[in-house]
Amino acid sequence: MQSTSATTLYERLGSHDGITRITRELIKNHLNNPLVNIRYQNVENMDRVEQRVVEFFCAGAGGPETYSGQDMLATHRGMNVSEQEFITVIDDAMSALETCGIDTPTRNEVLAILWSLKGEVIRV
Ligand code: HEM
Repeated sequence: MQSTSATTLYERLGSHDGITRITRELIKNHLNNPLVNIRYQNVENMDRVEQRVVEFFCAGAGGPETYSGQDMLATHRGMNVSEQEFITVIDDAMSALETCGIDTPTRNEVLAILWSLKGEVIRV
């Protein structure tokens, strides 16, 4: 059994391939989520966003990838993201992790990281 302290978060999420799979699942969840799907249906280049989200997750989890997108504040500025949207997007992320077989301590670690970003996303 893998111990949470022995491996990095990046490794526990399945490195680049695992994080790519999680991100695809996450975007699928957003598109099926009536509380936020309108936000993502209008995105011009979803492949580019997917690529950036993969990089963001990889870099944030301690992987070697470089994040080439804008910071969270610049990305979400002007969108007027609500508290409800923020929570449901995090729920989508938790479901994606569960679907991909990520264990509870690791999911909770990701939850804490995502939650810490709320000041850079909600109503900025
Ligand atoms: C902690 C929570 C969140 C994180 C970590 C996050 C992360 C990201 C990242 C990395 C990108 C790609 C940036 C780029 O292409 O340069 C992105 C784009 C986007 N995010 Fe978020 N996001 C979060 C919450 C939300 C919420 C709550 C909404 C609204 C429901 C939202 C809506 C969007 C949209 C619509 C885009 C695409 C922007 C575009 O290129 O047109 N995000 N997000």
